Amino acid sequence: MANVTLKEIVNNTYVKAYIAAADCNFAAVGYKEHGARHARFASDTAMGILSSLGYSSRDIELAGIAGYIHDIGNAINMEEHSLSGAVMTKRILESMRMEPKETMAVVNAVGAHEDKEMIPNSHLTAAVIFGDKSDVHQARVRIEKFSELDTHSKVNLACEKSQLGIVSESKVIFLKLRIDDKIISIGEYFEIFLERMLHLKKAAKYFDHSFVLYINDKKFL
Ligand SMILES: [Fe+2]
Ligand SMILES: [Fe+2]
Repeated sequence: MANVTLKEIVNNTYVKAYIAAADCNFAAVGYKEHGARHARFASDTAMGILSSLGYSSRDIELAGIAGYIHDIGNAINMEEHSLSGAVMTKRILESMRMEPKETMAVVNAVGAHEDKEMIPNSHLTAAVIFGDKSDVHQARVRIEKFSELDTHSKVNLACEKSQLGIVSESKVIFLKLRIDDKIISIGEYFEIFLERMLHLKKAAKYFDHSFVLYINDKKFL
């Protein structure tokens, strides 16, 4: 069995090909960036959350791996991509001889990252949800003509800054967003992103923390 590292995952030929293909599929329909940048963001954020909460270095690395690989199912289709991604992840990790228990933990985090209805079932899944759902930023928008943007892209375009953090003393995980309300109103933002924010709330609950959302320095959730 091998101690598979995040570096090996990032450099794996299949992972590279699947992430590139997923991003190509999204680009074809003008949908927001879903390539190596999003993978890296989700990976770094998932590791940051577990590191702040005092998890072991191996847990942090596994969160980095799950975060990096979480959306590879989009290479096949956006529909049910968490499930296809979980099967693809299993094959990759087995071929790299990752220990079975670790393989299952990562596969589970990939397969469960879109489950909005329930509290996540593991620290890896909760960490990946933070990595995935807190990625709201201008850098994800790829259409240049404003008139062609859908509301989802406008929300990302309007987001000038996003910062995820933890206040350990009060057991709060917060997301601070700076939104340009000339691009989108706060109401429109909520119309699109409320579900995503409620998902983050459930992930925070797994860690026995509450989730607080600030938009332009005002507390919203
Ligand atoms: Fe996803
Ligand atoms: Fe994602």
